[in-house]
Amino acid sequence: MQAQWFNELARKRRSVFPDQFDSGRKVDDEIIKEIMINATWAPNHGQTEPWQFTVFTGEGLKKLAAVQSQLYKELAGADYVEGKYLKLQQQPLRASHIIAIGMKRTTTKRIPEIEDIEAVACAVQNIYLSVTAYGLGGYWTTGGVTYFETAKYHFGLGDEDKLLGFFYIGHVAIPSPPAKRAPFEDKVSWVL
Ligand SMILES: Cc1cc2nc3c(=O)[nH]c(=O)nc-3n(C[C@H](O)[C@H](O)[C@H](O)COP(=O)(O)O)c2cc1C
Repeated sequence: MQAQWFNELARKRRSVFPDQFDSGRKVDDEIIKEIMINATWAPNHGQTEPWQFTVFTGEGLKKLAAVQSQLYKELAGADYVEGKYLKLQQQPLRASHIIAIGMKRTTTKRIPEIEDIEAVACAVQNIYLSVTAYGLGGYWTTGGVTYFETAKYHFGLGDEDKLLGFFYIGHVAIPSPPAKRAPFEDKVSWVL
């Protein structure tokens, strides 16, 4: 494996949002399977493998759009915004695949919950990097119904589990501009 190649992959990875997708162009399911295999190779404490993914594509995207917009309507209460409802109904249809990201809690509970969540975040970074390596676009959203407590039951999750958002994937029509990061020296201190 070439370290230089990985340096470039990690540094050029960008979020690509649904409005930038070549909407209507489907990604091969075999590629999505490879990406999901990479996700399951993430580090995890205590061999809990606490990720639980649901992949939506084709008609499945319409089902997701219907479920999440309806949930939003039912649960948003005073925060309800019509534009957000319409976005939840329409935006999934711009993607090729959407992955619901769940944290399935270990039964033994030896591992603190935060570590199961961290492991799932590692899995999502594998998805981000894999999507980039395949020349596709995507992003992790924690918007919409993610943090409505009862939404998780619609994504194969139970009482102890957490819905952590959705990863949208599509072919790229409009690439994201280069991003900026603070100089790493600002974030890294050394003890010599
Ligand atoms: C945990 C997490 C949640 C995110 N949720 C959202 C979101 O709800 N909406 C959104 O537009 N972007 C979301 N993003 C993507 C960020 O906007 C994006 O990573 C950030 O703008 C940096 O851009 P980059 O990914 O191209 O480096 C999320 C990213 C992470 C890690």
